[in-house]
Amino acid sequence: MAAVINLGAAAWRDETASRYNIYRAIHKGLRGFMTDTLLRVGRMDVNDECERNQAIEQVRGLLAMCEGHLVHENEYVHPAIDAVVSGGADETAADHVGHIVAIRTLQQQIAQFEAANGAKRVILAAEIYLDLSTFVAENFEHMAVEETHNHAALARNYSDEEMRDIEHRIVASMTPEQSLAGLRWMLPHVNADERAHMLGGMKAGAPAEVFERVMGLAREVLTQRDFYKLERALA
Ligand SMILES: [Fe+2]
Repeated sequence: MAAVINLGAAAWRDETASRYNIYRAIHKGLRGFMTDTLLRVGRMDVNDECERNQAIEQVRGLLAMCEGHLVHENEYVHPAIDAVVSGGADETAADHVGHIVAIRTLQQQIAQFEAANGAKRVILAAEIYLDLSTFVAENFEHMAVEETHNHAALARNYSDEEMRDIEHRIVASMTPEQSLAGLRWMLPHVNADERAHMLGGMKAGAPAEVFERVMGLAREVLTQRDFYKLERALA
């Protein structure tokens, strides 16, 4: 079993820790989506069709977001790391190959679960729950490596503006649906300052109707307290 990563003792914690981190917000969103989905599958009543369909739909959405996310990292982030640190993205690139295999396996398991009934359905639900738990566990460790080691490689060689530019190119490549799905999970799981920065940038740079749509989503997914803080920060 891999050793637990202790970030407090890690050598990466240097001047790069306070720099803009391209991974932070989307990873917080993914951790929220992964955890919520895993817990939902765990408590799913397999005899309740409505619960089953909702849980399956959420797992499919999660797997699609995970795949889209790793493709963005492969296409935009890893080349930027490899350009300044030879082989710097090798570890997380290799992890991504394994993630795709795990995603395809889970997609097959879901299809089998949908077609099954009776005792077989119960067994498959337990199997999906456990396999999703190891997928989430591996992704948690993987994202911690990206957010520290990969981030340090980027921050030592690029300005915050250059890192934000990489992020903007990723966002520009996404469909509106993909962007909103990401925001749905990022908004409630980043902290108040991060949320205010994220939406402050949108207020300044995005078309008014896009910003209004995102504020509508924020009102839907945030607690009253968090939404109030956001409104005050943006006023
Ligand atoms: Fe990744």
